[in-house]
Amino acid sequence: MCSYATFRLMRTLIFAFSFLLCVLGTSEKKDPAEASHSSVHSSCFLTSIWQNRLYLYSAGALFFGIWFSVRIILKKRSVSSDITNVSHKTVKTSRRSDKENENHVSGVKIFYGSQTGTAKGFAKELSDDVEASGLPCEIIDLKDYDPDDQLADEGTNRTVCVFLLATYTDGQPTENAEWFCKWLEEASTDFRYGKTYLKGLKYAVFGLGNSVYTGHYNTVGKNVDKWLWMLSASRIMTRGEGDCNVVNSKHGSIQADFKVWKLKFSNRLKKLVKGDKKTCSGNCKNGDSCKNKTKHEHGHEDESEVQSINTEDIYESSSDDEESGLHHESKGPVVDMEDLGNIMNGVKKFKSKDEEQMVKLSKLNGVKRAEDEEERREMITPALRDALSKQGYKLIGSHSGVKLCRWTKSMLRGRGGCYKHTFYGIESHRCMETTPSLACANKCVFCWRHHTNPVGTEWRWKMDPAEKILNDSLEKHQNMIKEFKGVPGVKPERYEEGLAVKHCALSLVGEPIMYPEINAFLRLLHTHRISSFLVTNAQFPQEIRNLVPVTQLYVSVDASTKDSLKKIDRPLFKDFWPRFLDCLRALGEKKQRTVYRLTLVKAWNVEEMLAYADLISMGQPDFIEVKGVTYCGESTASSLTMANVPWHQEVVSFVQQLADMLPQYEIACEHEHSNCLLIAHTKFKIDGEWWTWIDYERFQELVQTYEDSGGQQSFSSLDYIAKTPKWALFGAEEQGFDPADTRFQRRNKTKNISGC
Ligand SMILES: Cc1cc2nc3c(=O)[nH]c(=O)nc-3n(C[C@H](O)[C@H](O)[C@H](O)COP(=O)(O)O)c2cc1C
Ligand code: SF4
Repeated sequence: MCSYATFRLMRTLIFAFSFLLCVLGTSEKKDPAEASHSSVHSSCFLTSIWQNRLYLYSAGALFFGIWFSVRIILKKRSVSSDITNVSHKTVKTSRRSDKENENHVSGVKIFYGSQTGTAKGFAKELSDDVEASGLPCEIIDLKDYDPDDQLADEGTNRTVCVFLLATYTDGQPTENAEWFCKWLEEASTDFRYGKTYLKGLKYAVFGLGNSVYTGHYNTVGKNVDKWLWMLSASRIMTRGEGDCNVVNSKHGSIQADFKVWKLKFSNRLKKLVKGDKKTCSGNCKNGDSCKNKTKHEHGHEDESEVQSINTEDIYESSSDDEESGLHHESKGPVVDMEDLGNIMNGVKKFKSKDEEQMVKLSKLNGVKRAEDEEERREMITPALRDALSKQGYKLIGSHSGVKLCRWTKSMLRGRGGCYKHTFYGIESHRCMETTPSLACANKCVFCWRHHTNPVGTEWRWKMDPAEKILNDSLEKHQNMIKEFKGVPGVKPERYEEGLAVKHCALSLVGEPIMYPEINAFLRLLHTHRISSFLVTNAQFPQEIRNLVPVTQLYVSVDASTKDSLKKIDRPLFKDFWPRFLDCLRALGEKKQRTVYRLTLVKAWNVEEMLAYADLISMGQPDFIEVKGVTYCGESTASSLTMANVPWHQEVVSFVQQLADMLPQYEIACEHEHSNCLLIAHTKFKIDGEWWTWIDYERFQELVQTYEDSGGQQSFSSLDYIAKTPKWALFGAEEQGFDPADTRFQRRNKTKNISGC
């Protein structure tokens, strides 16, 4: 079509040119006689061409111009028609690929195994993302799922199955995932199901755990991943691991670990939706641990399709860590993001898009990047900060907290003090309840924090100085007291007194003696003439031995036998029992006042009387406080119910039996309204009268002398005693309620009312 148009144009131009020459020729014929002489005529013709050459040039230029323009127009037309063709094709192709997409993944099912709700929350987050990407998504509680009936079908209907699974005590699954795990484990080894039972099932696993549980870390996620793989299901990406232990968590917290994994999952899902069949290039630097290779050897041809090892996988894979025998432990306590690269068989560091995202997430978590993170990580993650703040804690720095005790409020209003007011003369309205370590080495079933606290067996977090913790605690405590100014019922003189803290109860949450600067903190308290009541969970004997004198030192004795302690305290230490016994011995070596605190859980430890008597003879404490466990509402992390809470009369009966077994001890005091009794060593019964109260001023003088003498001038518990008032004694009609105050009956009995 193009050449025909050019031909027509040329013809027109030649015609125009000839016509022009003709006109020019005619205009030159001035004499007719000359016409007969053709030669003369032709030479004249040439001359006239020469003379009119300017016209000819113009005509040539015109010709060229027109020709050039036409060429350009024609070219443009052909390009635009080409574009139209191409876009037609693209639309067709994309429609076709849309169709293909629909076929590769029909939807996502998210199964969760959760006890305290973290995995369940993650399931919701992931589901929102999946749905936003246009795919249908279903969240399934594993307790409502019958794998025998349904699991094999998930492969045939092109569902991608995601398993979010938490691990619990001794590596066990959560209650809701128990049956699923049992079934899967059996199926994976049962020849009747066959090795290819789950062939075609595409899956991804993210495990939730805490690496302080060494030996059982994320066991459930690992096992489910393994069992699915054994049944020939296809892993679409490497297993993710979320770690509650901020020290080891790859991205600073379990939430951040999940976010990074979720991001990778979404990318992987997008590729699967597009029908991605990328296979392992064989270029990965994991050498022997290349899973594709392993898979080929096992004859699972599908696996290579979904198991593509790309940069993301190299960077993240926790399963790779294991398979290549590389564990975090081998690298030391803190595993930085950059270090991960080294861990993964020296994979070169690179700055991928995902890495940038991870860094952002890590920053979100208050975790500094590796370059500027020579320091340790912070104990409190933003998620934990939120949770604790909601529970009323005022957080200080990165590992301490303070909270206003309900007895402090009660005493401000003249409604009575806590049992420590009754037993030892603490002025509850001048008492600050605080802790320099929110972390603990136990997960006690009656823990009223509902297991939001961080756990650890040693201090591996960033540390705040003792001065800062004390100053901030005092400031925050005073601010909370100030909120009571003018509140109806608040006694003005108590309000004024309350602003000056006189006692510090180091028993809020966590394990205060884990804080490496605990001695500096205690000395500071005493410098401010504040008494120290320190409670420890009996897992750190050396730290107990290293402690400077405190006004009153407690150990929590939550059970009397190894098995029941494990059941109740769920300790992290494997050697928890020898540690526990050694703590009791360490307490026995102390000169100042010591206390065993027994929490009575009905039907659990009430039968263990003789064993308790043995433990008491081991530590020879000055006092034994026995209180009935308080029910803090339903908690999925604890099987404790109201049925486990003993009535006051049951506590009295238990305490009487126990006291009868201890020749040197008697029941001294009672605080009926917090279901608590005090057994005291008879050395505090002088001339038939109890001296269980404390002369706080005297204590401050003694401790000052002790410090000034470099510990040479020591003192004992009998050096700062005060007489117990009659109303506080066991058997008094007030039942431990200070007659100076007015009793206020609570309607809601289920709330924690016993105090610290
Ligand atoms: C009592 C108790 C025992 C635990 N035992 C383990 C364990 O053995 N291994 C582990 O990796 N994580 C263990 N964890 C940590 C949990 O798996 C982790 O806190 C997880 O985020 C809980 O998820 P969930 O809230 O969905 O139940 C334990 C937690 C608690 C409270
Ligand atoms: S219950 Fe504990 S924190 Fe509260 S006033 Fe008594 S000693 Fe202080």
